[in-house]
Amino acid sequence: MNTSNPLMVRKLLVDLSQGFPRHWLAGKAFRTQFFNALSMSFPVGEQDFIDSVREAALSLPAEADHSSLRATIQDFIGQEATHRRVHSLYNAELEKQGLVNHWQYWTADQIELGRQRNIPALSKLAVTAAFEHCTAVLADLTLRYPEVMAGAEPMLQTLWNWHAVEETEHKAVAFDLYRTLGGSYKTRLRWYGYAMLRFTVMATKQTINNLWHDRVLFKPSTWIDAARFFFGRHGLVWLTAGPLFGYLKRDFHPWQHDNRELAEQWLASNSEQYAIVRGLAPVDLAA
Ligand SMILES: [Fe+2]
Ligand SMILES: [Fe+2]
Repeated sequence: MNTSNPLMVRKLLVDLSQGFPRHWLAGKAFRTQFFNALSMSFPVGEQDFIDSVREAALSLPAEADHSSLRATIQDFIGQEATHRRVHSLYNAELEKQGLVNHWQYWTADQIELGRQRNIPALSKLAVTAAFEHCTAVLADLTLRYPEVMAGAEPMLQTLWNWHAVEETEHKAVAFDLYRTLGGSYKTRLRWYGYAMLRFTVMATKQTINNLWHDRVLFKPSTWIDAARFFFGRHGLVWLTAGPLFGYLKRDFHPWQHDNRELAEQWLASNSEQYAIVRGLAPVDLAA
């Protein structure tokens, strides 16, 4: 594939200091706490993505033909750094609401373990590429099915959609770097299995913990909402299974599923919600 894609760093124009309702997602406890759990993972998790891409990029040979990939990596870092900052403010509000972010420590422990075991840079990059795929699948779902965010408090709806747009835009950056550095198919699959398992366990544990602190863990309505969220008409399980398994294909590339129009549509109809900080750099999808 030989395509290019504009990639920008944007500042989101929302004021999280004013707070938001406890059940900001249509008054539904389960899905609110699920998205809150994801937000809790981002400041530490996305810093790890930045670090792994930065470390792996040091191995790029100093050749001019990687200049567009290098520029894209800079913008990837810019986007993820902005996400971290915004989700830190979001998480500060969650703390005020009485929730406890455990996920950040679980991730920090894993990073430290990786350091102690001298996990190679290319393997850490494979983990990042795996998480980026998972994030891109959730981002596609958020943008494609307005039902997912229907009834959400407008500021948080904007925040999640903006994050989904940028995850879509940069979904191939870690993957392209991995491929350019000669990462193998077997290693990519092995770390994908690890990342999916880790994501599922952590997301489950943190969501349950949030529901506990929210005092709704044992309410039947919580679990009715959970069943609908995962297995309903636009259930997460049905909508994500295909794209998640798609990563297992030997010739997989994130842009085989070209969903740029979803991101472009949101950006065009919400231009008052963000300011462009930096852009445009070409995304080298053929690297
Ligand atoms: Fe992000
Ligand atoms: Fe990302």
